[in-house]
Amino acid sequence: KVVNPDGRFRVISTKPMPGDRWVDLLVKADCRVEICTASKTILSNADIIKLIGDKCDGVIGQLTEDWGEELFGALDKAGGHAFSNMAVGYNNVDVPAATKHRISVGNTPGVLTETTAELASALTLAAARRVVEADVFMRAGKYDGWLPTMFVGNLLKGQTVGIIGAGRIGTAYARMMVEGHKMNVIYYDLYQSKRLESFVSAYGDFLKTQGEEPVHWRRAASVEDVLKVAHVVSLHPVLDKTTFHLMNRDRLNLMKKDAILINASRGPVVDEVALVEHLRANPMFRAGLDVFEDEPKMKPGLKDLPNVVVVPHIASASQWTRAGMATLAACNVAGKLLRYPVWHNPND
Ligand code: DGY
Repeated sequence: KVVNPDGRFRVISTKPMPGDRWVDLLVKADCRVEICTASKTILSNADIIKLIGDKCDGVIGQLTEDWGEELFGALDKAGGHAFSNMAVGYNNVDVPAATKHRISVGNTPGVLTETTAELASALTLAAARRVVEADVFMRAGKYDGWLPTMFVGNLLKGQTVGIIGAGRIGTAYARMMVEGHKMNVIYYDLYQSKRLESFVSAYGDFLKTQGEEPVHWRRAASVEDVLKVAHVVSLHPVLDKTTFHLMNRDRLNLMKKDAILINASRGPVVDEVALVEHLRANPMFRAGLDVFEDEPKMKPGLKDLPNVVVVPHIASASQWTRAGMATLAACNVAGKLLRYPVWHNPND
């Protein structure tokens, strides 16, 4: 699909994106916008190189694509200056390769913070209260009367939530767990999160004025420290060499037998084979996963386990957020291109 065919800059979006604002913005920046509508979900490098063609000024790409030397080389050859990943995470982008080709890279932080934290909260509640297992049971027509022992789960109130990675999303999730469920917080991050600490303290003070138990918080000295005490552990680090398989077999074994593990960051942060074994060996342990190590595949056995809730990487999938991500992605590309003045021949 092509919008504004006479635009000065040729910009490609490798996928249709929600909302109209991102297209309007690029058109205002004098771009010819080409939106790839191929039915294939994940485009290969060869597909993208074909889209880039001989002349392309900028690309808006997706986290499923491998933006490394090959693609940045092709974009450079086509005269491109800008690439924007429609995601906050950019582990699929080789930034040094882009820099080598003098291509600027953008991502879309901020607009997905609350939406992603909400999905992590939804997974937490679904896992704690066995919502999906119970839904499957109902749909199978198995409900033949109330029982005191049926689908008994975990109460969150007063328990401790452990946050690994207290950046924007980890902090928003902590706030939801504290304000919504009066959970205590333990967090691990290389940096102190003053925002997290100040709102948990302020909320604790508010609870005291209501005559309620205050909530407690603590910054942990290590990941292990969090795993040993938390009833719920939610992972929010970026994926890099230091966080690959951060949750391995040994660390899973440190967690409480009836703890809950939530991952809405990146799949390879968890050793998924070890997680399958752990869930199998500990039926009271539960997990809520939005992301997978070999996305879109799940490791063998995962889908057959009742004590895991799985969703297809939808943490940022609210209409407002997705339209915002698309708009930011367009700004990243347009802003960069407009800073490259086009040579006008005064005699033309
Ligand atoms: C991101 O933006 O990094 C999410 O994983 C997808 O929305």
